[in-house]
Amino acid sequence: MKKDIIVLGIESSCDETAASVVKNGREVLSSIVNSQIDIHKQYGGVVPEIASRNHVQNIDGVVSAALEQAKVDIKDIDYVAVTYGAGLVGALLVGVAFAKSFCQANDIPLIKVNHIEGHICANYITHADLEPPFVCLLASGGHTAIVDVKSYTDYTVLKTTIDDACGEAFDKVARTLGLCYPGGVQIDKLAQQGEANIDFKSVVMKDGNFSYSGLKTGVINYVHNLQQKGIELNKNDLAKSFTVAALKGVVDQAVQIAKDSHKKLCVAGGVGANSYMREYATEQCDKYGIKVFLPQLKYCGDNAAMIASQGYFLAQEGIDLAGLDLNACPTLTLKTK
Ligand code: KG4
Ligand code: ZN
Repeated sequence: MKKDIIVLGIESSCDETAASVVKNGREVLSSIVNSQIDIHKQYGGVVPEIASRNHVQNIDGVVSAALEQAKVDIKDIDYVAVTYGAGLVGALLVGVAFAKSFCQANDIPLIKVNHIEGHICANYITHADLEPPFVCLLASGGHTAIVDVKSYTDYTVLKTTIDDACGEAFDKVARTLGLCYPGGVQIDKLAQQGEANIDFKSVVMKDGNFSYSGLKTGVINYVHNLQQKGIELNKNDLAKSFTVAALKGVVDQAVQIAKDSHKKLCVAGGVGANSYMREYATEQCDKYGIKVFLPQLKYCGDNAAMIASQGYFLAQEGIDLAGLDLNACPTLTLKTK
């Protein structure tokens, strides 16, 4: 019988300190996410230095809790997988330094994981039978891309944003509406009560890439214009109109690519939790007979289970192990076509 492979995942790229134990790349034995949202809320966004300090404070407890919840002993861990980019450098360094020490002290091999690839793997822990190839629509606070997932470790960006990320636009629009950080989920709630009756420009450009800066400015100007004229703003309608402008074209584009390449479509990233995005992607895929996969809501945002999953698949492919010289790489990307 094949031996089970146990991976401990560690994630600290932004404002979540997370650790998780995953068996054979798909079975989540534990997933602990310590969110700092309540701390950063008062500043209207993530303050990098405060994030780093809180990771330092929390990481040991979070890892211990993940091992305890999984009922796994340190000696049972086959690999540690740690996020080394993309993200905030100081925040990443906490996870990387912890993982290196943990592996050195306990003689465990270390695997470095790209956070963006981790997000895509959230689909493997949700859907036990999902296998590549597929097309993935990735939308988070830091990235927006349509990715050609050729294998468990081979990713190529087909389309991407040329300026802001999708989640960033959600957060900025939320701030304009006076909603607290992170605003994406609040915009989602308002939008569910609203009508898309304001005509904002789509984010899809002629070449199929995306630009969010025009939409963001369009929304801000619209709000200020009403305020200057003393006209009351219907926040629900604005939220829905913005959501449709931010997501419809991107979903259409991803569906078209999946259709043309006869592939399945997966969604990933924090914005993958958006209710309109999930409904519209499902509806469009059903319409064209494309199989669609959505990660469970708890695996859309940052977590360490997705990192452990990617770590497992990298280990299976015999990828080079990380050494004690592993550094954080804040600008890490995926390869582009
Ligand atoms: O993937 P993620 O947790 O972190 C990054 O890697 O960036 O994504 C966070 C982003 C934030 O911008 C947040 O506002 C957005 O995802 N988000 C949402 C929703 N839930 C989270 N955006 C729209 N609708 C949601 N339901
Ligand atoms: Zn993320």
